[in-house]
Amino acid sequence: MPDAYILGIESSCDETAAAVVRSGEQIVSNVVFSQIATHQPYGGVVPELASREHLRAIVPVVRKALADAGHTFQSIDALAVTQGPGLAGALLVGISYAKALAFGLDKPLIAVNHLEGHIHAVLLEERQKGNHALKFPVLALVVSGGHTHLYLVRREDRSWSYQNIGHTRDDAAGEAFDKVAKLLALGYPGGPMIDKLSTHGDPKAVSFPAAQLKHRDRNERGSRQELDQPRFDFSYSGIKTAVLRYVETHDLKSSIAARQKATQAIARPAAADYLAHTDHRTLDLVASFQRAIVEDVVGKTLAAARACNAASLFVTGGVAANNELRQRFEKDAAMEGLRVYFPSRPLSTDNAAMIAAAAYPRFVAQDFAPMDFSAEAGLALS
Ligand code: KG4
Ligand code: ZN
Repeated sequence: MPDAYILGIESSCDETAAAVVRSGEQIVSNVVFSQIATHQPYGGVVPELASREHLRAIVPVVRKALADAGHTFQSIDALAVTQGPGLAGALLVGISYAKALAFGLDKPLIAVNHLEGHIHAVLLEERQKGNHALKFPVLALVVSGGHTHLYLVRREDRSWSYQNIGHTRDDAAGEAFDKVAKLLALGYPGGPMIDKLSTHGDPKAVSFPAAQLKHRDRNERGSRQELDQPRFDFSYSGIKTAVLRYVETHDLKSSIAARQKATQAIARPAAADYLAHTDHRTLDLVASFQRAIVEDVVGKTLAAARACNAASLFVTGGVAANNELRQRFEKDAAMEGLRVYFPSRPLSTDNAAMIAAAAYPRFVAQDFAPMDFSAEAGLALS
């Protein structure tokens, strides 16, 4: 099979991204335009603004990805674009542009599931390092702003299959980081700031009750037999409420208001700016919150890995950039003799290299998208 250069396009949330990847194993270029500055004043992603920013950025981002790779529109072999899950309006920008390019250039177009992309971020980097001997089955945790999902990943010849064995019943782990940071006036997105500030607090200072999942998931579909298989679900809305209750009972509101005022006056506040306006009780709260999330994510994922006899573990998605999460996974997985793989930090958060890599097996199988496919905000991975 000769080399294939795939141009990937990603616009599912608040990053406009394009990349060129060779044969699913080498990043030739990788351009990410983040909209953080646009959404920061609102403490979260505003869908209409996200679509508008994607419209502005998509053409220059794609052109830069091609130029960085030394390619032209004509010299690439195929295009790949994120179909979902994500924000419908944001997805449509990438999809419409990719369709128009594919039609105009007469090149094949491949539709990719964003979650599959996050899993292929790990596979791409391992191949790039020359590691072609991964052990299967793989248990993959996709932990991001929209997802805390566990998949058993199997490779069948050149294609991949994914079985969902757990997901969040309410907030995703990254969503909890973002909401707690918003509540404490620690900026947006919250994960990176909480990650940095946690090292200044005592993670044992505040104890949070573990999430209890007593009821079967009401949204669960499937046969009786499927339902009886053990699931490893997550829940993070309780801990967010517990942080709110702590703020109310410990009179932290005035210090939050003071921090809000002080950091609003700074154009792009850094961790040192937040640190200068954060008292030790809040730092302890932040460190304890992060510890509670990390322990829950790691504990449940390793229980799932044992139950499924996983041979390797992938941890991917934006929250996989978290330092404490990485350290805890490395330590606890090693104690069980399980090898854990993370993407590098730039490939943990949203990017288009992972989309181009996930598209490669479909390119080989000539599994191309029909021109009438559309965005699917709730697209499942199976
Ligand atoms: O994968 P991603 O870029 O977008 C989604 O698909 O959601 O993930 C973004 C999420 C945000 O919730 C952000 O706060 C979180 O990842 N995140 C982190 C860190 N870096 C990003 N959470 C904890 N620690 C980090 N260092
Ligand atoms: Zn993502």
